[in-house]
Amino acid sequence: MEASDSNRITRDYLDSILIETRYLDSDAPDLSCPFFGHVLPSPLMTAALSHLDHFMYPGAMRHYAQGAAKAGVLLWLGMTTDDEASMCADQGAPMVEIIKPYLDRDQILHRMQLAERLGFWAVGIDIDHSFDSAGRFDTVNGIPMKPLTQEELKAFCAATRLPLIVKGVLSRTDLQKCLQAGAAGAVISHHNNRIGYALPPLKFLHELDADEKNALPLFVDGCISGGADAFKALALGAGGVCVGRPLMTAIRQNGADGMADWFHQANDELRKYMAFTGCRDLRHLDASVLHFTR
Ligand SMILES: Cc1cc2nc3c(=O)[nH]c(=O)nc-3n(C[C@H](O)[C@H](O)[C@H](O)COP(=O)(O)O)c2cc1C
Repeated sequence: MEASDSNRITRDYLDSILIETRYLDSDAPDLSCPFFGHVLPSPLMTAALSHLDHFMYPGAMRHYAQGAAKAGVLLWLGMTTDDEASMCADQGAPMVEIIKPYLDRDQILHRMQLAERLGFWAVGIDIDHSFDSAGRFDTVNGIPMKPLTQEELKAFCAATRLPLIVKGVLSRTDLQKCLQAGAAGAVISHHNNRIGYALPPLKFLHELDADEKNALPLFVDGCISGGADAFKALALGAGGVCVGRPLMTAIRQNGADGMADWFHQANDELRKYMAFTGCRDLRHLDASVLHFTR
């Protein structure tokens, strides 16, 4: 593994955060989590995945959507065709779609309208997949991408009645621009090592002050391996915790049931950490329970 590998750096940072215990006056925790006027049974949710039929096996995308429905978790979709998005919606989980920064801006508008028609709870755009590894405008599956300007982001926020979430924020600069553009939320993420030496998402959260954290819901992804990692993210102020690659392993092992089992175990682990630290619900969870060893 290279020294620049952002997944290794993120994993090391997660492991460097330690947790104290608070048993006196503790109670059985309630994991319920607000999401733009809805209430989810847990703050654990999927990351925005895509192309699972290609990377895994034909039908894996359907199993991904079924797994979310079985587990009762929020399903985030990445780059999909219209038919794939409709098929996933048919499986019954609440959904969010993260749209690519397509060069064809009409395509972004089209997908926002589709998300509204399919009853998604929110829609978003990933800002970190417009360049390729040579720093040129990227092409994904033959479809050209182009970075968004802040003005365009503002126009997209105004063009949908759904909350618009910006994915791929990893700086105060972008966070401020999202706020000014009217974004409803942001996903703090390096998108599975798109750039080396990326700031670990939880380190970025830790560096924000209370006003910055409270300005809009901040979701987080990157190397979350279970309830203990989710607990650390939530204590640092995350409004939800997204999981990507571990779900692919679970689906490979046992399809939709494997994915649902993964969430059940992770929720049990999160409940344990909340119980052992006196956090009866997400409102009673803050960073004072964490110790930073670096
Ligand atoms: C197979 C695969 C497909 C992905 N597709 C998308 C996508 O279409 N849009 C997007 O914003 N992120 C996409 N991602 C990135 C994830 O949403 C997430 O940011 C990343 O995997 C980090 O989470 P993890 O460490 O839990 O996997 C994809 C990741 C994987 C592994």
